[in-house]
Amino acid sequence: MRKPYIAGNWKMNMTPSEGAAFAKNLAKAVEGTNTKVMVAPPFVTIPAVVEALKGSDIIVAAQNMSDNLKGAFTGEVSALMLKDLGVTNVILGHSERRALYGESDVFINRKVLLALSEGMDVDLCIGETLEEREAGKLEEVLSRQVSEGLKGVSAEQMQHITLAYEPVWAIGTGKTATPEDADAAHAFIRSLVEKLYNKGVAEELIIQYGGSVKASNVKALMSKEHIDGALVGGASLSVEQFLPIVNFDK
Ligand code: G3P
Repeated sequence: MRKPYIAGNWKMNMTPSEGAAFAKNLAKAVEGTNTKVMVAPPFVTIPAVVEALKGSDIIVAAQNMSDNLKGAFTGEVSALMLKDLGVTNVILGHSERRALYGESDVFINRKVLLALSEGMDVDLCIGETLEEREAGKLEEVLSRQVSEGLKGVSAEQMQHITLAYEPVWAIGTGKTATPEDADAAHAFIRSLVEKLYNKGVAEELIIQYGGSVKASNVKALMSKEHIDGALVGGASLSVEQFLPIVNFDK
């Protein structure tokens, strides 16, 4: 049975003091939930949120990390630094990293392998653009992103991987994929993982949906067989909006 996994990607929002205040409120609000919950603050906000969430089961993740561990890489943040902060989860390959900062599948795979070698858990984002979907390239794109993104990842290491299917055209647009379309994409992704590894790995894999998830649509999405959670952007920035998503099963 796959445990539901709801994550909040704060993107470039929340100062350290805002993040700490938010995290304290969220920790109180989600007490007792059986859902796995993660928040991903901006780098500079991580220490304050880690401190605020001491004693809480809420996971703190980074939104990215360097493909190197130390050295002359101006502006970068390494896995060693994140681990020193107590962070062992990282989102990689977000569509904004791909589109705005030119991260390729090969570059993202380097980061995936480095994170795993440092004992971190990875939330690997994949998803097609509207042009790719309208051109009938959905399966081609997902096949490439999954096979390239997971290159060199062993079956055993797959227990440290979560995949987040985020159709780019649904991110921040209010245009959520229908539960049926999302579930079909998740089922295809799971079939890809079964071919790359085996049935057991595919069945245990958590696949989150991301793209305009809200309290109003989360129940329908989570009712689908292959949707095991959500990676939430805008609606993760307020407890009032995020709590009903965490408590989708109540
Ligand atoms: O990583 C999650 C994000 O891309 C989804 O954003 O605002 O559509 O929930 P949003």
